[in-house]
Amino acid sequence: MADTPLGISWIMKDHTVKNIDLATKLFSMKDALTARRFHKQIPGYRMSALQGLPNLASMFGVGGIWVKDESSRLQLNSFKVLGGSFALYRYLQKMLGILGEDTPFAYLASDEVKEKVGNIIFASATDGNHGRGIAWAAKKLGFTCVIYVHSETSVRRIDAIKSNGAKVVIVDGNYDDAVRQVAIDAKINGWTIISDTSWDNYTEIPTWIMQGYLTMLTEAQEQFGGVGLVKPTHIFIQAGVGALAASVIGFYHALFGQDAPTCIVVEPDQADCLYQSALANDGEPHSVKGDLDTIMAGLSCGDPSPIAWEILKENADCFMKVPDFIAAKGMRVYATPLNGDPFVLSGESGAVTLGTFASIMQYSELEELRKALNLNEDSQVLFVNTEGNTDPVHFRQIIWEGANPVPQQYWINR
Ligand SMILES: Cc1ncc(COP(=O)(O)O)c(C=O)c1O
Repeated sequence: MADTPLGISWIMKDHTVKNIDLATKLFSMKDALTARRFHKQIPGYRMSALQGLPNLASMFGVGGIWVKDESSRLQLNSFKVLGGSFALYRYLQKMLGILGEDTPFAYLASDEVKEKVGNIIFASATDGNHGRGIAWAAKKLGFTCVIYVHSETSVRRIDAIKSNGAKVVIVDGNYDDAVRQVAIDAKINGWTIISDTSWDNYTEIPTWIMQGYLTMLTEAQEQFGGVGLVKPTHIFIQAGVGALAASVIGFYHALFGQDAPTCIVVEPDQADCLYQSALANDGEPHSVKGDLDTIMAGLSCGDPSPIAWEILKENADCFMKVPDFIAAKGMRVYATPLNGDPFVLSGESGAVTLGTFASIMQYSELEELRKALNLNEDSQVLFVNTEGNTDPVHFRQIIWEGANPVPQQYWINR
């Protein structure tokens, strides 16, 4: 473990041989292609772009920077809908006794299915994006849903959920409190919970959600093939409860085994449950408490998803925690591309990984980490821009007004 004056900390995990059994079981290419076939038939589906930023790559001294850009996925501004929609699909298939087959989206939305499965009410807790995705998918399939948010959730995020037809319940406390409350209320009301985080005896739906995220990875692999690359050498992936990170890291380990890319998990320093779990080094997931006060709303989670942790503890190479100004810097780097590079619209949780990478490449204080990760001119680095402009007011405050600035002592003078 190491701390730097930038407030960035990291833990390198030295796996001699990685255990990839669980990754292989949960994230096979077969599962990934099943998810992809399902998403392909959703009206409006399009592959998201894999953006190359060659000029930024050359400025930072790496071979390539690649951004899987989820900022406009199904016009919902985040990757999250991939997981929620696939979980609803699997759940309905299971109710209908047709799990294992491919089912047309239009059939699941039909009256015939409603007659067979009855009036299901879906419920979930969210810090914004997951709830929006569930609300959207439930509406498309003709079901109602209730979404729990915590009291600090921005009005813009709440409105985005409501505009997709869901009822929104606001809970005192943080994201983890909303998760606990919806679990209690769902039991009382007979609702079906579609949660992206897992708990004891609740792993099937969170696993489907993680498998739903694989669509973007099969797309990315196809897109890498198109530019003559077999795979990235490094992946920086952001984490809240860790479900996304587990699916990305699990997928690449299932596909490439011990030759998988070097995988770096990035969290906010105020919501660093996976970092703390790695630090404890006892194989168990550990929670962090408190306000979890960070601008990275999507990553503001204090309880790791246990099933995601099982993958991450075996397969992640490095756990990092970073302050908010790193995410704001990442947003500005994306929004002001070097001449010839594309513009990428990225929100706080989406941009933190690029901000982290930029810092590693720019600051001499982080040279030790740069070397430990083997980041150099041969590196092809993958980022997932997990969200676009999901909170326009905050986005403008950061990009236009300069909120969350890099402290002046860290300004780069060259
Ligand atoms: C934009 C964004 N990025 C990343 C994440 C992290 O996903 P996970 O909670 O699975 O770690 C989230 C979660 O809501 C999110 O909304």
